[in-house]
Amino acid sequence: MTQDELKALVGQAALAYVQPGSVVGVGTGSTVNCFIDALAGMKDRIAGAVSSSEKSTQRLREHGIAVLDSNTIERLPVYIDGADEIDPRGHMIKGGGAALTREKIVADLAERFVCIADESKLVPTLGRFPLPVEVVPMATAQVMRRFAALGGQPQVRRGVVTDNGGCIVDVRGLAIADPLAMEQEINQWPGVVTVGIFARHRAAVCLLGTAQGVRTMTF
Ligand code: A5P
Repeated sequence: MTQDELKALVGQAALAYVQPGSVVGVGTGSTVNCFIDALAGMKDRIAGAVSSSEKSTQRLREHGIAVLDSNTIERLPVYIDGADEIDPRGHMIKGGGAALTREKIVADLAERFVCIADESKLVPTLGRFPLPVEVVPMATAQVMRRFAALGGQPQVRRGVVTDNGGCIVDVRGLAIADPLAMEQEINQWPGVVTVGIFARHRAAVCLLGTAQGVRTMTF
């Protein structure tokens, strides 16, 4: 199977986690696009969606799925999103599509995070994928110096402005041995809006697309 076929497979499989009558938390990215397309088939059986990006909002609306203001929602049964990397404990790196801040906000509303990914995303330890960090523009240089002091190689993602007006710094070369500790540390740095380590908001379930079919991992 191609990578696109694996994404379609897990996008479809994620429908099993959508509770009829509920509002669904929806992530961002090419794998989630497959999920949104599948969700269109049951749009009359859900109360709507809370979206993590302008791109996903547009796709949801094109399918006739109502997109609700996150501030009107107290709790979501499930948040479904992709990942750039996921480790065997459900910790993830996210933000390859620059939507990490809204993704973490919607994930925070959800009872459970269901990650959908093809098997290339499963890694023993996070850090091969450059770590995305959303930063307030005036803090970029200082945040990059801090990453360099940790042994990383930070780089501003050129031409990218997030949905919140922030910029993205991608950091290569970090060994993320303790994702929760590193997430907590980087979150303290002034000017950091969101770090793309999802440890506190790790996946509860991962639907992994493999050549043998969907492998369900629970954490
Ligand atoms: C968006 O900012 C990301 O967190 C995506 O969830 C992640 O990059 C996975 O995207 P793909 O499904 O396109 O690989």
